[in-house]
Amino acid sequence: MHRRLLDLLICPRCLPAEKPLRATLREVRGDEVTAATLECPRCRVAYPVDDGLAVLLPADGPEDRYASADRLAGYLWSHYADLDGDPDAHRAFTAWGELLAGAAGPVLDAGCAVGRLSFELARQAELVIGIDRSAGFVRTARALARDGRCGFELASEGELCETRTVRLPADLRRERVEFLVADALALPFPAGLFGTAASLNLIDRVPLPRLHLAELDRVSRKREAALLLADPWSWAAGPAAPDEWLGGRRSGPGAGCGRDNVRRLLERYGRPAWQVAGSGRIGWSIRHHRNHFELIYSDYLLARR
Ligand SMILES: C[S@@+](CC[C@H](N)C(=O)[O-])C[C@H]1O[C@@H](n2cnc3c(N)ncnc32)[C@H](O)[C@@H]1O
Repeated sequence: MHRRLLDLLICPRCLPAEKPLRATLREVRGDEVTAATLECPRCRVAYPVDDGLAVLLPADGPEDRYASADRLAGYLWSHYADLDGDPDAHRAFTAWGELLAGAAGPVLDAGCAVGRLSFELARQAELVIGIDRSAGFVRTARALARDGRCGFELASEGELCETRTVRLPADLRRERVEFLVADALALPFPAGLFGTAASLNLIDRVPLPRLHLAELDRVSRKREAALLLADPWSWAAGPAAPDEWLGGRRSGPGAGCGRDNVRRLLERYGRPAWQVAGSGRIGWSIRHHRNHFELIYSDYLLARR
């Protein structure tokens, strides 16, 4: 974790009170904090930084459903295969990045997984912070930021795998990107920090989707802010109880489409209200093996205030 984050982080357990964390540094290499403790002066919880990885989770959460090597390889393929000229790759991350062209920093990429959108947004913003609950994803994204490359084994057929390497192009500004383990429902950042926030394919994966929206709203600037939210609305009882869904219900608060409901929530309850300036649908895919791909369409809303 770069030193520049030390002044930005607050205690995720004490929210809505915003309590800056006090750092005790144990090892620093250049500007990189490799070992430290970040302690909350109010609740006294100490968050670790080990091998440069900061873990700022408010509490133990649900099991990490993204921890397996297959999941990691699937996401590395999904995020980076287009850079390799893979004929089956999608180009959704370039498209999402282009939607935010000219957007102001700092930038938050909530649910960043293995980091592609964060790197895309670092083409223009000087500081991009990707957060994800999955320590395995964040470790891999950090390795890419450090080394610019990473090898992985991609399922080909049955037990057979292909060795692939992600190589980030030199014009992706890796040094501008930070990755932390954190929760999109209790973001360890003060109100109004971010000029741009993005949440891709996350809101239907969290137990409290409305709280995720409220957190995006809280950490975004009050003026001159942009918010990109994209989702396939794959509501399911595993991640969130049906009463919490923001769409896909026949009746009640989640009745109708997630796209329309989230738009209404942003426009009515944002503080201050957001204006949806653009919307549409972008397709992306996950590879299961050489001949098996999952195609997903995500509706996006690009909001400004
Ligand atoms: C469907 S994936 C989407 C990842 C990435 N945004 C993309 O579009 O490829 C959902 C991601 O959200 C992360 N995630 C799930 N719940 C989370 C939470 N409460 N806080 C932060 N990240 C979370 C998962 O670890 C996973 O990386």
